[in-house]
Amino acid sequence: MTIAKRESIHGQWSSRLAFVLAATGAAVGLGNIWKFPYILGQNGGGAFVMVYLACILLVATPILITEIMLGRRGRRSPVNAMAELVREERAPPAWRYLGWMSVVTGFLILSYYSVIMGWAIAYVKQAATGSFTGLDGASIKGMFESFVASPMELLFWHTVSIVITMLVVARGVRAGLESFTTLFMPLLFVILLLLVGYGMSTGAFGQALGFLFAPDFSKLTATSIVVALGHAFFTLSIGFGTIMAYGSYMPERASIASTALFIVAADTAVSLLAAMAIYPVVFAHGLEPGAGPGLVFQTLPIAFGQMPLGLMFGTLFFVALVLAAWTSSISMIEPVVAYFVESRGWTRGRAVVVLGFAAWALGILTVLSFNHWAEIRLFGKNFFELLDFVTSNIMLPFGGLMMAVFATWFMRRSSTVEELGLSNAAYTLWRVLTRYVAPLGILVVLLNGLGLLG
Ligand code: PHE
Repeated sequence: MTIAKRESIHGQWSSRLAFVLAATGAAVGLGNIWKFPYILGQNGGGAFVMVYLACILLVATPILITEIMLGRRGRRSPVNAMAELVREERAPPAWRYLGWMSVVTGFLILSYYSVIMGWAIAYVKQAATGSFTGLDGASIKGMFESFVASPMELLFWHTVSIVITMLVVARGVRAGLESFTTLFMPLLFVILLLLVGYGMSTGAFGQALGFLFAPDFSKLTATSIVVALGHAFFTLSIGFGTIMAYGSYMPERASIASTALFIVAADTAVSLLAAMAIYPVVFAHGLEPGAGPGLVFQTLPIAFGQMPLGLMFGTLFFVALVLAAWTSSISMIEPVVAYFVESRGWTRGRAVVVLGFAAWALGILTVLSFNHWAEIRLFGKNFFELLDFVTSNIMLPFGGLMMAVFATWFMRRSSTVEELGLSNAAYTLWRVLTRYVAPLGILVVLLNGLGLLG
């Protein structure tokens, strides 16, 4: 049996397009529409955006290619794919632990991601029942604040998001994951364009563009560079195994690099559009760019409350946001589920229920960190902020670093040449970026952020 013939026991995507859409669905999510706009506001705007884009191009894209490659070559869930590759490439056995990161990290991220996805579901209801109509900025803000102040309400919507995530994952790769992604991504894109159009009519569009694209590097701190790097990983869903798991379902002949470039382009476009939709509203209504996690929920409803057909567009927007989050949340739990099915002999259903429940329980801590426990802080962060910081900004870049090192220092060159199937020039570019630029970049940013480099 040649290596390339290995098949995943979970099935395969039906086509290259299906893989592209599913991976784009995993990438495009709350990270683009909820997180990117608020972290860029907290980190001073344009300069942060520049650093983020540099991280995407020089670090995250080569690692995305690497991660898809590891998954497709291993043809198993990350834990077993790594074990397989370690054996095949005669790498030191400790590399197997890299696969385990996917189990832990995916889980931790899902626990809080699902809480925020719950906010988006709750806002579908608000939008559809016309709650935003005619409200000013202060009332929209008050509405959000009283919403997150209620643990029971957050818990209810968090439960809804975990349950719908489990339902899809339980149905398996093709029936569950694939069919969902196709329809709503284009819709989301169109509504964002429309909102950018609304932003142009607010009179603050120029100010917003200035904030987003005119860099003021004096606003950049070591921590904001760590955040920009971490977000490049988070938004592309790389660094722990989601993409490895998805890559293992990828058909053999599809080109890994061009697929990756498409995913990056779509993901970046959605993030920039979201920012260009939100910031005109922020400035037109005198709101705070540094408002934090509530930003999108405190700005776009103002636009929906005032624009023609706002009820319809508002509802569609939040529906699309939920779907984008949903296609991401299923991707977080997929590697873990796949592992328990392969190696522990569990049925898919059992794995989904047990793991989903555990993530749900952990999510309660995030629910509480927006109300009762908001003031319980470690390193100046509440539980949600700490979990988000550690997973996105430390664990994902670290996982990515390890993948890059494994693929370019421990795998045979001939294996990566074969699996990537690139032209010489493109292969060399990938190799230089993955072998030197990305690992060094990650190390410097992380150490600098931890204050170890002075
Ligand atoms: N990329 C997703 C988003 O932007 C989040 C995600 C992170 C999904 C890690 C899977 C793994 O919302």
